[in-house]
Amino acid sequence: MGLPIIGETFEFMKAHDAIQLPRFVMEKVLRHGPVFRTSLFGAKVIISTDIGVNMEIAKTNDIPGMPKSLKRLFVDDNLFVNKETHRQARSLTHQFLGSQGLKLRMIQDIDLLARTHMEEGARNGSLDIKETSSKIMIECLAKKVMGEMEPEAAKELTHCWTFFPREWFRFSLNLPGTGLYRMIKARNRMMKVLKDTILKKRASGEEFGEFFKIIFGEMDGGAETISVEKGVDYIFTLFVIANETTPGVLAATVKLINDNPKVMQELKKEHEGIVQGKIEKMETADLTWEDYKSMTFTQMVINESLRMTSTAPTVLRVIDNEYQVGDYTIPAGWIFMGYPYVHFNPEMYDDPSVFNPWRWKGKDLSTIVSKTFLPFGSGSRLCVGAEFVKLQMTIFIHHLCRYRWSMKTETTVLRRFVLMLPHGSDVQISTNTEQDDSVSY
Ligand code: HEM
Repeated sequence: MGLPIIGETFEFMKAHDAIQLPRFVMEKVLRHGPVFRTSLFGAKVIISTDIGVNMEIAKTNDIPGMPKSLKRLFVDDNLFVNKETHRQARSLTHQFLGSQGLKLRMIQDIDLLARTHMEEGARNGSLDIKETSSKIMIECLAKKVMGEMEPEAAKELTHCWTFFPREWFRFSLNLPGTGLYRMIKARNRMMKVLKDTILKKRASGEEFGEFFKIIFGEMDGGAETISVEKGVDYIFTLFVIANETTPGVLAATVKLINDNPKVMQELKKEHEGIVQGKIEKMETADLTWEDYKSMTFTQMVINESLRMTSTAPTVLRVIDNEYQVGDYTIPAGWIFMGYPYVHFNPEMYDDPSVFNPWRWKGKDLSTIVSKTFLPFGSGSRLCVGAEFVKLQMTIFIHHLCRYRWSMKTETTVLRRFVLMLPHGSDVQISTNTEQDDSVSY
């Protein structure tokens, strides 16, 4: 369990190559077996690398297990955290971010935003993958949620993000001058901007975004379902999770592609084929759901990247009922962290440390959870953004591959619980001279 209070937090938080499981976990497994206990961030923690245990805990335990500093970011009775409202929050999100919602409401916006940002990058000669993905994600969610926003409010929201320091979750003291303090202030400011915008729109009878209509039951003449405060908190939660996850994973994926020329070549072939096909059929440039579904190799690349970058726990719970694993008892009240060790098991994946998208050939690429693949967790708290992530990543890669690009050699992808890119994620990007059509298209 390590030192009093601090426990083994320092060993646990050592940065490591993001596509390898942390040494801390590997060494403990060798010494103690696949399930062991430790103390992290002042809490008693069980770490499991056993897929059966992870799936069972995910199925039978519902309370999310978050480090204290992360918990502080969300209000106490957050819709996702609160037991009574958890189901409602998931169902609302499914209407919006499930495949039907994405098909009807999202794909065009993501397509247009990715196209525009990529064109701008090509004009400037460079583009930061993480930053661009983050902008696309937030712009797209903000527009859907809020409808058109006053430019001042939109600017203020973007500004607040700059107060989210890197590795924000490590700060646990909310004292003036600390990162956590500034971040909580930024959170309160953002929530106020969101709330003011909603109240203004209500008062003037102006159109809300579709998402808001769903939240407040205004779609199909339904009655209001949740309060403005809860709605704002819910939206904030989605913004934070979206911003802290996909951009990092996408940047890591681009790095993996960059380092594997055969993969890059196959992707170019797939995407130039789609653009060419549309030109020949004289269709509009906009991507359709069918185009998205036809990007098979890209989805193989994304699955492979999700397999390899899942080097953090993907099942996080507080144990609510004592649980027996073989001779061991996992006590109630402890935090449970389940690592998808199975992603690196050579019996499940041949040569698991090799980035090989072709291993997914012929597999069902729409599956987001199985006994050998858990990047989005499992059970009652399975990620509700999984489909959205895959759509966003696919469209981003499609537009990127219409250009000539390469990532800066100094780029490294590390993990210290969350993914980090200490040297940024810049790519040099320019018009693909062999296929000028694709750019104007
Ligand atoms: C590559 C990107 C992402 C990854 C790898 C990821 C992964 C995960 C994981 C592992 C969980 C916890 C599951 C569990 O404990 O069993 C989770 C939960 C969640 N994710 Fe994601 N996520 C990503 C992006 C997103 C996005 C873009 C959104 C929303 C816009 C989102 C919304 C959520 C929410 C709301 C939960 C909590 C669900 C609940 O408590 O019921 N995620 N995600």
